[in-house]
Amino acid sequence: MSLTAFPTHVTLVDVGPRDGLQNESQPVPAAAKIELVHRLQAAGLRQIEVTSYVSPKWVPQMADNAEVMAGIQRQAGVRYSVLTPNMKGFEGALAAQADEVVIFAAASEAFSQRNINCSIAESIERFRPVAEAARAHGMKVRAAVSCALGCPYQGEVSLDTVEEVVQRLLDIGTQHVGVADTIGVGTAGRVKAVMARALKHVPLAELSGHFHDTYGQALTNIYACLEMGIHTFDASVGGLGGCPYAKGATGNVATEDVVYLLHGQGIQTGIDLDALVDAGAYISGVLGRKPVSRVSNALLAKRQTS
Ligand code: HMG
Ligand code: MG
Repeated sequence: MSLTAFPTHVTLVDVGPRDGLQNESQPVPAAAKIELVHRLQAAGLRQIEVTSYVSPKWVPQMADNAEVMAGIQRQAGVRYSVLTPNMKGFEGALAAQADEVVIFAAASEAFSQRNINCSIAESIERFRPVAEAARAHGMKVRAAVSCALGCPYQGEVSLDTVEEVVQRLLDIGTQHVGVADTIGVGTAGRVKAVMARALKHVPLAELSGHFHDTYGQALTNIYACLEMGIHTFDASVGGLGGCPYAKGATGNVATEDVVYLLHGQGIQTGIDLDALVDAGAYISGVLGRKPVSRVSNALLAKRQTS
């Protein structure tokens, strides 16, 4: 594919407060999560995945979902999304006036069972009323297709299965599809093949990539997507996170690293990298560690010497 397909503007969805913090074993106060969201929106993020309305027994770190949603001072033009695995979750999202719900189906049966305790087909039937209710209330429906590049339990995942899950999610009313490399095993050629399958059904403007960086491939995989014209990506400030049901998987690609790449290519994001670095340094400080972002650490070191 020619490089002329390169986008001129990319939308980044910061999933740090949700995908990042869901995986922390230490408690993170709701006030720190709220402060993180405030810092992200101040840095120019226009889509923020704030929390999950999942079972607090399964993911205790997100048990403060209502408190976090209620504590955010919303900024006009920012879309606040939350994960909703079922109608109970949707009711929480509705009460919190989320702008967008995120449903999440796996392209692997084994992962679906471990993550949400049901088969892929059952999960999609559970999401059907969620998608219907969300649309009826004017909320956007985004779906993540987990394990699209590989599964921690079954290994390889076929292109046909990914395509079938994408189609089934669209059938129930999904408006945006995120192809997720949950365990960060994908490499560029395979990412392009998976995205090409998704693009058979999803418009370019409603397809995104969600890359965990476990094997250090995330930026390369994003570049591969850019070559296809894909212009929406999830990323996690400070490289926070992982998935509690994908042991060993590290966080999402750091938002700071993606912004540095994009700005270096002359691609606009609307994000102020310095303010974003501050946001990543803030939450990493709360967690008592350095940001998992090469760009962030380089810029923080440069600040100290200048
Ligand atoms: P289950 O045990 O099969 O559900 O869990 P259940 O309907 O039998 O309910 C069991 C209990 O959970 C009941 O409470 C329900 O009320 C409660 P009890 O009667 O025992 O006291 N419950 C809920 N509570 C609050 N909110 C809810 C809710 N639903 C039920 N929404 C369930 C099924 C889906 C709930 C469970 O498996 C679950 O919560 N799983 C968590 C999954 C999760 O959050 N995973 C991480 C996020 S996905 C991810 O990170 C991947 C992504 O980033 C993309 C990628 O990288 O691949 C998106
Ligand atoms: Mg994830």
